[in-house]
Amino acid sequence: MSTVKIVYWSGTGNTEAMAQAVANGAKNAGADAELIPVGSASVADLASAKAFALGCPSMGAEQLEEGEMEPFMADLEGSLGGKNVGLFGSYGWGNQEWMRDWEERCKGAGATVVNDEGIAFLGAPDDATISDLEALGAALAGLA
Ligand SMILES: Cc1cc2nc3c(=O)[nH]c(=O)nc-3n(C[C@H](O)[C@H](O)[C@H](O)COP(=O)(O)O)c2cc1C
Repeated sequence: MSTVKIVYWSGTGNTEAMAQAVANGAKNAGADAELIPVGSASVADLASAKAFALGCPSMGAEQLEEGEMEPFMADLEGSLGGKNVGLFGSYGWGNQEWMRDWEERCKGAGATVVNDEGIAFLGAPDDATISDLEALGAALAGLA
């Protein structure tokens, strides 16, 4: 059985709820799912995975969270070639620029972004977004 790993950072729980939905979608599709807060993740955790998910809200000024997620991404970038990456995260007031930048960064490192774009949502995910996130988990289950 494939395992979908979901590495995420969440300050107030919105992105964590999104991560849970990705995990549920993967499980419903018959895969195992592993939720890993980025502070407990290492790049080695993802080395053998063909597909995985990364979640982070918009922080700073349209940036990844800088204490844990940004350093993790910087470490991961060199090994993203050929991977299928699902991106997701919550935001508060911006124009989703952080997600567009994150997509480009992953693509520039040689990854395929599943659905060609990340799932960004204002605040806590609504039912439609939960469904989209579950579908992302199912897609990753098929690719992992
Ligand atoms: C320090 C800080 C910086 C933020 N910067 C942005 C931003 O640049 N753009 C934006 O849309 N939201 C921004 N937000 C709002 C968060 O993205 C939003 O509250 C999100 O739902 C938090 O997700 P979480 O519950 O997973 O932590 C910021 C929030 C904090 C605390």
